[in-house]
Amino acid sequence: MVLHKSFALVTQLSALLFILLGFCGSGRLSSACIEPERIGLMKLKAAFNVPNGSADPWWRDDKGDCCKWEGVWCNNVSMRVTMLLLNDTQDSRLGPWSLNASLFLPFEELEVLDVGFNQLTGFTETLRLKRLQVLELRTNELTEVPSLHELPSLNALYLQFNYCLKNLSRLEGLKLEVVDVSFNHLAGDSLSAIWSMTSLKALSIAGNQLGDSIFQGLCQLKGLEELDASYNEFVSSIPPCIQNMTSLYAIDLHRNHFGGNIPSSLFANLKSLQDVSLSGNAFEGSFSLAALTNNSRLEVFDLANNYHRLNITTEDPLYAPSAQLKILCLSDCALNEPRGVIPTFLRDQHELRLLDLSHNNMSGAFPSWLLENNTKLEALKLSNNAFSGSFSFNSSTASNVDIQLIDVSSNFIDGEHPISIGSSFPNSAFINMSRNLIRGGIPSSLGDMRLLSCLDLSNNDFIGELPESLLCKCQHLEVLKLSKNNLLGSVLPRTANLTKLYTVSLENNRFSGAISPGLLNSPGLHFLDVSSNFMSGTVPSWIGDFESLKNLMLTDNSLEGRLPLSFCKLKLKFLCLAANDFGPTIPSCDLFHSFYGTPHR
Ligand SMILES: *[C@@H]1O[C@H](CO)[C@@H](O)[C@H](O)[C@H]1NC(C)=O
Ligand SMILES: *[C@@H]1O[C@H](CO)[C@@H](O)[C@H](O)[C@H]1NC(C)=O
Ligand SMILES: *[C@@H]1O[C@H](CO)[C@@H](O)[C@H](O)[C@H]1NC(C)=O
Ligand SMILES: *[C@@H]1O[C@H](CO)[C@@H](O)[C@H](O)[C@H]1NC(C)=O
Ligand SMILES: *[C@@H]1O[C@H](CO)[C@@H](O)[C@H](O)[C@H]1NC(C)=O
Ligand SMILES: *[C@@H]1O[C@H](CO)[C@@H](O)[C@H](O)[C@H]1NC(C)=O
Ligand SMILES: *[C@@H]1O[C@H](CO)[C@@H](O)[C@H](O)[C@H]1NC(C)=O
Ligand SMILES: *[C@@H]1O[C@H](CO)[C@@H](O)[C@H](O)[C@H]1NC(C)=O
Ligand SMILES: *[C@@H]1O[C@H](CO)[C@@H](O)[C@H](O)[C@H]1NC(C)=O
Ligand SMILES: *[C@@H]1O[C@H](CO)[C@@H](O)[C@H](O)[C@H]1NC(C)=O
Ligand SMILES: *[C@@H]1O[C@H](CO)[C@@H](O)[C@H](O)[C@H]1NC(C)=O
Ligand SMILES: *[C@@H]1O[C@H](CO)[C@@H](O)[C@H](O)[C@H]1NC(C)=O
Repeated sequence: MVLHKSFALVTQLSALLFILLGFCGSGRLSSACIEPERIGLMKLKAAFNVPNGSADPWWRDDKGDCCKWEGVWCNNVSMRVTMLLLNDTQDSRLGPWSLNASLFLPFEELEVLDVGFNQLTGFTETLRLKRLQVLELRTNELTEVPSLHELPSLNALYLQFNYCLKNLSRLEGLKLEVVDVSFNHLAGDSLSAIWSMTSLKALSIAGNQLGDSIFQGLCQLKGLEELDASYNEFVSSIPPCIQNMTSLYAIDLHRNHFGGNIPSSLFANLKSLQDVSLSGNAFEGSFSLAALTNNSRLEVFDLANNYHRLNITTEDPLYAPSAQLKILCLSDCALNEPRGVIPTFLRDQHELRLLDLSHNNMSGAFPSWLLENNTKLEALKLSNNAFSGSFSFNSSTASNVDIQLIDVSSNFIDGEHPISIGSSFPNSAFINMSRNLIRGGIPSSLGDMRLLSCLDLSNNDFIGELPESLLCKCQHLEVLKLSKNNLLGSVLPRTANLTKLYTVSLENNRFSGAISPGLLNSPGLHFLDVSSNFMSGTVPSWIGDFESLKNLMLTDNSLEGRLPLSFCKLKLKFLCLAANDFGPTIPSCDLFHSFYGTPHR
């Protein structure tokens, strides 16, 4: 899911960094850094990438005030180093190594140290930093937690993506507020040091192999505000004891195998909830969103993809939230079945950024008012429903400058395409309106969508020629799917300038004329299907210049003559030539990895 946020631990780090920047980094004006720290930095530099030392433009002895060096931040009064960002400094070709922790001794006022992405297996000697609050060790090769007991101010520890980290016993006795041990290979019994850390406010244990046995330990963390336990192997129902973690405002349990009902008491007890993600589980039964009525801080509610086994209802009793949601994902949720009415409460929502109601069985007029009411929308996904009527909106008021993704495919939308679509959604990158009943011409305002990278209007009733503005101005277009319409004219005229095109499927239309040299402006073409049109003439010899072309479908046109020898340069996986007038012979190169159909009609 494009906008889905993985919980706030990472964000929290950047927030912390930001705060510290605000406090410490803003004024690096007056004096310079102190000499012992400058020497310390040069020693640190020499310790990375041994034997060569780090390359320019890293820290340089002759480059004045070291508080201004990249990745170094100083307190603006004492000019002592408070933050060191040494992430991603080690050359990845050099392999795993360990860093001498004594090299940090000169930095007595260091508060934030980031040594992530460095292939570290650990530290030689012990980190001793009285003021250190944030230690970032993500994406290294730690097999155990380094000794942290000489870091009395440590508050936040990031250990995610150290795949061989199995034993957390070194965390015993620490009083941290933020711990991220996501995406390691942790099993339940290795986490006991965390369960006794009652100071914890934010914990991520996502992406491990944890099962139901950890619930008892987890529920001891009564002060927890943020929990990310996504991508694990929980199989039972949501444990009732979580209802006692009343400080929780963010809970992410997505991509597990939680089953059973979603207890409505969960939300009655956890009144502070703001971000809730329960998607990708195996919940069953029925859940009424009215259970969320009193969660007035709710901003994110994601319950998508529960194998259509969970019935969500919003009407009886009516959900009338006091909250304005920012993200709501209820795809594949049997929403208000069997009547399939669109939730009434959505009429009073104005702050939505992402709305995903796809794969339900909702019917009624296409809800274009969602776009008018929610001017901050970034993504609208309503595919695979039964909405009918036209995709129309008041073009003088509709303005969704933030919207990047619109997917309304597989509905029963009819009527003509709104002429102003391009100017109403100028920053869209992804538009899928396929499998509907839309009629009329393709509006030339699509050319105003300069960022458009994927356009799928296939399986509709579009007529006329492709607007020139689309073919010249949408220079980010990578995927163009217009198959099964009634389009005509030339496929890609000479003026077309779609330099990034990758996939073009135009089959089952009424395109005519020769295979146009306009294609030559799209050298990265991978997939071209113009089957079942009225293309004529010969296959040009420049076709051999498409080095990336893997699929070429020309079936059922009126193409004729010899195939050029340059065909042998292509590295095709699929080639379909049937039902044309090619011949009398085809080149006998052995590059046709697979050959469907006969060359003669
Ligand atoms: C130093 O930092 C403090 C705290 O953020 C700020 O109020 C002050 O303006 C800064 N001083 C200078 C000279 O930038
Ligand atoms: C280190 O320097 C040597 C000699 O200049 C060079 O051959 C080698 O590729 C360098 N190693 C790295 C990782 O840059
Ligand atoms: C190091 O981390 C900071 C903060 O998370 C980030 O802004 C920066 O781009 C990173 N640097 C490198 C070289 O990855
Ligand atoms: C670590 O660095 C310190 C200070 O530079 C030095 O005294 C010590 O010998 C080094 N330790 C190792 C194991 O290299
Ligand atoms: C974890 O490491 C500690 C020592 O660091 C050791 O005593 C303990 O047995 C280890 N636990 C497991 C489960 O390997
Ligand atoms: C919540 O905590 C209270 C008091 O500690 C306890 O009596 C109760 O059983 C707990 N509830 C659940 C569902 O664990
Ligand atoms: C869910 O809705 C379907 C109708 O779509 C109904 O047959 C089924 O009984 C409902 N299940 C529950 C648990 O309400
Ligand atoms: C919401 O709060 C009101 C007033 O406290 C209460 O009557 C109602 O039952 C609560 N609703 C839910 C769904 O918790
Ligand atoms: C889908 O909706 C139609 C009418 O809108 C209804 O007849 C049908 O039963 C619904 N299907 C399911 C699975 O609920
Ligand atoms: C939102 O849409 C509904 C349904 O069309 C409409 O009644 C309501 O007035 C709209 N609200 C705003 C603020 O535009
Ligand atoms: C569109 O919005 C404008 C401005 O609010 C209004 O004057 C006009 O009547 C609306 N048109 C329709 C068809 O609703
Ligand atoms: C075609 O597009 C490229 C960039 O995608 C641009 O540099 C070039 O000027 C365009 N050519 C024409 C004729 O518009």
